[in-house]
Amino acid sequence: MPIFELPNFVSTFLAVMAALFVFAVGVGVLFVAILYLIDITQTQHAIRRNFPVIGRLRYRMEHLGVFFRQYFYAMDREEMPFNRAQRAWVYRAAKNLDNTQPFGSTRDLRPPGTLLFANATFPALDTVAEPGSPLVIGPECAQPYPARSFFNLSAMSYGAISQPAVLALANGARLAGCWMNTGEGGLSPYHLAGGADLVFQIGTAKYGVCDTQGGLDETRLREVAAHPQVKLFEIKLSQGAKPGKGGILPAVKVTPEIAAIRGIPVGQDSRSPNRHLDIADTAALLAFVHRVRTLTGKPTGFKLVIGDPRWLDDLCREIVHQGLTSAPDFITVDSADGGTGAAPMSLLDYVGLPLSESLPRVVDKLVEYGLRGRIRVIASGKLINPGEVAWALCVGADFVNSARGFLFALGCVQSMRCDKNTCPAGITTHNPRLQQGLDPKDKAERVRHYAENMRHEVGIIAHACGAADFRQLRREHCRIVVGPGRSVPLNELYSRNEGLRG
Ligand SMILES: Cc1cc2nc3c(=O)[nH]c(=O)nc-3n(C[C@H](O)[C@H](O)[C@H](O)COP(=O)(O)O)c2cc1C
Repeated sequence: MPIFELPNFVSTFLAVMAALFVFAVGVGVLFVAILYLIDITQTQHAIRRNFPVIGRLRYRMEHLGVFFRQYFYAMDREEMPFNRAQRAWVYRAAKNLDNTQPFGSTRDLRPPGTLLFANATFPALDTVAEPGSPLVIGPECAQPYPARSFFNLSAMSYGAISQPAVLALANGARLAGCWMNTGEGGLSPYHLAGGADLVFQIGTAKYGVCDTQGGLDETRLREVAAHPQVKLFEIKLSQGAKPGKGGILPAVKVTPEIAAIRGIPVGQDSRSPNRHLDIADTAALLAFVHRVRTLTGKPTGFKLVIGDPRWLDDLCREIVHQGLTSAPDFITVDSADGGTGAAPMSLLDYVGLPLSESLPRVVDKLVEYGLRGRIRVIASGKLINPGEVAWALCVGADFVNSARGFLFALGCVQSMRCDKNTCPAGITTHNPRLQQGLDPKDKAERVRHYAENMRHEVGIIAHACGAADFRQLRREHCRIVVGPGRSVPLNELYSRNEGLRG
């Protein structure tokens, strides 16, 4: 006779639980046995064949490692393409939070290539440099563009980024007085809805302004130019992340709306050619620039990543030969380490010159041929923090564009999934579930604060250097570490200091 008898419902419950447990263990064992059989019989993965079941963990860990490193193990200045310190500055600037730091710098100032700014011994007593007056692009055009901000939004197409992302960027750009570049995917209603000044990019596929032969449809171009918001036209020759290759928008991101704007089939990869069909040499490039400017009446330039710098001589000689009216109104110089929605790793990692080399060469060539006053220079490529932006201005850029800086302002966590349609921040995905996390109104404010705080903090650097405004920053204000205990000013490195800016 048992001393203690369980109530009926408890013993029934325990019996059911025990049965379920045995069943679950049985299913688990069966499942592992099936995986084991699959692994030892398959021939594609040596690790799984040699270490059945457990070998699978390697692939899972490799995937999870990306996230673990970002959150737990990577040091603040370690990650690529952007480290935590760089991203954190953008996040704080975008939220308009105090961006002062305690204790001291975590930046190692010793490695060759490190940039430093030369502070003035007796800086002016006011705390920040004055905002410069607007700089006119294309003063000789029918409709010149007085650009208010030296820091602007680089090209990213509607397609590569989502509808709420375009809306947030466009509204934020308007609030901050920046321009926004449409990227090569054409002009969408969301670009226009934001009310910002727009740069219409003519990519190699000429999406939005293409005729049936891949050439320029002049009627459609005039329609685009008729929008008063469209201020500039940028002909894209190449972009730093994938020189020699056209744009790639994976099929999963080609929605009916995006297909309609681009004039392409739904659900198929959208691939643009690796160059404009009708621009095969420098003379053709200048002719195309001239044609677009004449048809639209608006300043027109081109974007490229520099490969062989000797081409700059060809370009300048051709402009001098044809006369100043043939010159582009601006050149956007993109860095080899620029960003993209999708590109082959070999091009990302190996092809093109980084901005640190190409920007001084472009500026110096224009000065050499007497063209610097005519052609504005826009720099882009990893210029997401004030120090790098101030460097570009010191070298001689008139304007700086950023793409990924503004993506961080939108909440990008650098999950590196832009080509997968699974961006967790809703920025590079057309999945409505993921997009709902991105509130265009709130993020427009972040875009605005990021641009405003960028301009403010570049002003702090300029002031520390004794420059009256951003446009007074010169090469002598920036130094580069060339070896142990030794840095040289950029004017010594490149033997030029004056007349570098238009
Ligand atoms: C998601 C994404 C889409 C882009 N789409 C374009 C494009 O359509 N046309 C273009 O010329 N560049 C495009 N770019 C390149 C950027 O405009 C910019 O030149 C490059 O990323 C360097 O700037 P960053 O380092 O501030 O990102 C894209 C970049 C990103 C990240």
